Amino acid sequence: VSGDRQRHARLAAALPGSPRRVADLGCGNGRTLAALRDRLGPEAELIGVERHEAKLPAELGATLIVADLNKPLPFEDASLDAALCHNVVEALVSPDALLAEIARVLVPGGHFLLSSSDFDTLLFNTQDLQLTRTLVHTFADTQEPWMDRADGTIGRKLRSIAKRAPLEVVDTLAWVELSLDVSEGSAAEVAIGGITGAVKRDRPDLAGQLGEWVADVHALAGRGELVCSINDYAVLLRRPAE
Ligand SMILES: C[S@@+](CC[C@H](N)C(=O)[O-])C[C@H]1O[C@@H](n2cnc3c(N)ncnc32)[C@H](O)[C@@H]1O
Repeated sequence: VSGDRQRHARLAAALPGSPRRVADLGCGNGRTLAALRDRLGPEAELIGVERHEAKLPAELGATLIVADLNKPLPFEDASLDAALCHNVVEALVSPDALLAEIARVLVPGGHFLLSSSDFDTLLFNTQDLQLTRTLVHTFADTQEPWMDRADGTIGRKLRSIAKRAPLEVVDTLAWVELSLDVSEGSAAEVAIGGITGAVKRDRPDLAGQLGEWVADVHALAGRGELVCSINDYAVLLRRPAE
């Protein structure tokens, strides 16, 4: 199992029970939906919500709803058994508004898993520590074009956000996503892409140093010495049973 698949599998595994109707809010290309399909089997109704028309693999058997998560959710009251949302809430105008909507659309006793990387916890064992810190902060603080807001320390804030919501906090979870190479989809590869975009956008003065830094990451990986990691956090919430 590649790191990326494992990451989405553990999100799917964190939803308790066997929910029949589940939505992934900000589903991207459907990686968490695929993990949900593996875990819940062919009978579950899976729905992805995305701001723009997205292509979900046909074999997933999931429905896509195009909607803006900054607005009321496109679901009837008490119509979802469960929902999850990974690496999206840091970009929304108001996480609190989303959670109020979740409380409306979940069935009583239904669960919501809110999860996010804490981008500021990204680390690399590269030689130039000062440059690495600067690059990580540039990445954590950048507002990518698809974001309405950016919060590179969102992971550590999920519990406070959850405590304010009209839902019960069932559990708080954390995982370390570790990359020992820069294979496609690894945390290291994704982070290098994010750092490169952030430098272009916000710190073009670092472009020259970035090239050497990326070469250092690849050299470490080539020698089998690379250590790159990022912390993922999640809160599991439940709509109180009536
Ligand atoms: C970093 S990606 C994460 C995708 C997916 N959850 C995953 O883990 O692979 C963030 C996704 O959230 C979506 N998104 C961001 N803001 C949104 C909004 N206001 N309404 C709907 N989708 C949104 C983006 O289009 C993007 O696909």
